[in-house]
Amino acid sequence: MPFTPDNELDLLFPTEYIPADVREQLHPDLHIRPLASTDYRRGHLSVLAVLTVVTDPGEEAWVAQFNAQRAAASTYYGIVIVDKASDRIVAVGTVFIERKFLRGLGSVGHIEDIAVDERQQGKKLGLRVIQALTRISENSGCYKTILNCSDKNIPFYEKCGYQKKENEMAKYA
Ligand code: ACO
Repeated sequence: MPFTPDNELDLLFPTEYIPADVREQLHPDLHIRPLASTDYRRGHLSVLAVLTVVTDPGEEAWVAQFNAQRAAASTYYGIVIVDKASDRIVAVGTVFIERKFLRGLGSVGHIEDIAVDERQQGKKLGLRVIQALTRISENSGCYKTILNCSDKNIPFYEKCGYQKKENEMAKYA
């Protein structure tokens, strides 16, 4: 599949929100952009499967979820890095903006679902995804950006400028 430029895609949010300096630091064979409504066909779920169990809901349900995220204005910022030669996704990540009543009606950015294709790990794609999401969070006015990760990934997030704080609690249904 030939590379599809941003102006031919139906994007989750305006492409201008991706910081220009992060874009410029990527290898010219790669492109960073918002998630698009046709990214189910570009291997979005296969890259996410690097992170955890992914059940394929089919394209129609995937697109319905994309539309539900977009309907929640200024809340979901999913981004992808695409390999231009194949037009396939090689890295993904999301920041979700939570609006609070405390801190003067402050907002917090929650980074979620970071994954880099196994063949592309160790080439700073994860770093670029985190840099872009953090800037989107800060540009949205968030007073902090947070995430949960395994002990194994702590050094990676430290390299991205994050520090360990407190603990995660979870209760699975
Ligand atoms: N231990 C130590 N250092 C690490 C590790 C690690 N596990 N992973 C990356 N780093 C370092 C790199 O060496 C590099 O350091 P340098 O700048 O000194 O060279 C720096 O962190 C940046 O690394 P990247 O090359 O950007 O890392 P990569 O592109 O491989 O992405 C990621 C890292 C996202 C963890 C990737 O390996 C991956 O997809 N893993 C499987 C899925 C996963 O665990 N995702 C994160 C879940 S947490 C969440 O989603 C909030």
